[in-house]
Amino acid sequence: MAAGKGCSRRAFLQAGAVGLSAALLLPRRAWGANGDVRVAVIGCGNMGGGHVKHLAQLPGVRLAGLCDVDPERLKGKASEGVFTANDPRRILERNDVDAVVIATPDHWHATLTVWACQAGKDVYVQKPVSHNIREGRRMIEAGLKYKRVVQAGTQYRSDEGLRQAAADIQAGQLGKPLWGKAVWYELRGSIGIKDPWMPAHLDYDLYCGPAPVEPLRRNQLHYDWHWVWSTGTGDLGNSGVHAFDICRMIAGHRTLPPRAIAAGARLGYEDAGETPNTHLAVLAYDSVPLFIEIRNLPLKKGMKAMGHFRGVQEGVVFQCEGGYFAGLRAGGWTYDNDGKKIKQYKGDGGAQHMANFLNAVRERKPEILNAPIQEGHVSSACCHLGNLSCRLGAGAPPEAIREALKAHPEAAETVDRLKEHLAANEVDLARTPLKLGPWLKIDADREEIVGVEGGMPEALTQARTLARGTYRKGFEVPDSL
Ligand SMILES: NC(=O)c1ccc[n+]([C@@H]2O[C@H](COP(=O)([O-])OP(=O)(O)OC[C@H]3O[C@@H](n4cnc5c(N)ncnc54)[C@H](O)[C@@H]3O)[C@@H](O)[C@H]2O)c1
Repeated sequence: MAAGKGCSRRAFLQAGAVGLSAALLLPRRAWGANGDVRVAVIGCGNMGGGHVKHLAQLPGVRLAGLCDVDPERLKGKASEGVFTANDPRRILERNDVDAVVIATPDHWHATLTVWACQAGKDVYVQKPVSHNIREGRRMIEAGLKYKRVVQAGTQYRSDEGLRQAAADIQAGQLGKPLWGKAVWYELRGSIGIKDPWMPAHLDYDLYCGPAPVEPLRRNQLHYDWHWVWSTGTGDLGNSGVHAFDICRMIAGHRTLPPRAIAAGARLGYEDAGETPNTHLAVLAYDSVPLFIEIRNLPLKKGMKAMGHFRGVQEGVVFQCEGGYFAGLRAGGWTYDNDGKKIKQYKGDGGAQHMANFLNAVRERKPEILNAPIQEGHVSSACCHLGNLSCRLGAGAPPEAIREALKAHPEAAETVDRLKEHLAANEVDLARTPLKLGPWLKIDADREEIVGVEGGMPEALTQARTLARGTYRKGFEVPDSL
């Protein structure tokens, strides 16, 4: 069912219900020899390589194929029974592949997911699942229409410790929830700046796929696509999405917020990167607001060490009236408001996430997924909102940012801490200011931006263009399937 313009929240929920009952009717399929699920990995870089090793350790699954646009990344990897391809379409047309794991750069995720569903493959798609707000809903629809199992690669959703913490907080063990904060302080340096160049050792046109084919200015092709808007989503979409996803799980928010705003900039060095390395986003849910704070600069200029917020360097702080939860990777603890430990939630970093996907594939039951595409979509789209507001922003002093966020004291105080942090990195905010974006008004039912506060009419048009993305012909994510 089309869930875009003109579709109410009720219709969305009904679509979910229809999807669920349809899901129960997913056809059983003929697996490979021994009943193994035959999986192909698309995108064999850092993460894809990790998936290949992990799949080799899981029972009931067989690595059937490997695909990477870059032939260098496939060198020496073909083996008996494992075919290789540079073009993902060569994988999708094969009958001996049951499921694909998509670990390409972000700009390819949605197009490949839709293509894979259409080709009858189940999909594990890395986070952020999408490159803009519109795409995620189309991915959900593709899964429903083609009766596929589609899991988001937000693995912390499979961490039993975190799930238990969320259940306890939702049951009121810490009192009324007040706010949640995704914290990601990870050192990231300059990606360099060179004269424009085009990679010659691969089909760069295919690498760009949905994105414009433009010369690169950064030092390296791989990985640093994260920090360029046409292919990546910055650290908000890269790492922030993990912590935000768990914040949102604890808060129990299932939709986009009604309002969002962000401030941030790329500071401390000049390079070919476009995305902020210092970023604060406010997802202003009416009941429990959620914040994301990204820092890629160190504790102090020249240092490698990063700071922390209440002991968390990369994770979640979720504040309730009677105390707070802090953690992520190894689970976490609840604390009282004096910082005294209350209860431990041991975690495993979501180690069972791929196994959870494979179980759902085998049993033809999307409803047992820990991170169904619906959840991946909402968390990714919230990160896109944070990026979008910042991209529409203009340089502003910290005092003006503080004023814009004053309805959310925790966010306003974060601005004070960011000011100190940037001073410690010798960033001159008068010369290179943070950008303050506008408040975005969102129709959460339709997943549409309906207003840009204080903005000119063209700001709304600009916001909507960013929210729906642009594509090269042949690589579009269609509005209706
Ligand atoms: N869940 C996690 O904890 C986690 C951790 C790291 C990365 N990731 C995600 O995994 C994805 C990949 O990240 P990475 O660090 O491996 O990046 P990377 O740049 O190292 O690897 C991406 C690979 O995809 C290939 N590629 C590009 N377009 C392709 C296409 N259309 N078909 C086939 N191959 C294509 C590239 O050539 C490259 O080898 C990203 O979405 C990232 O956010 C997730």
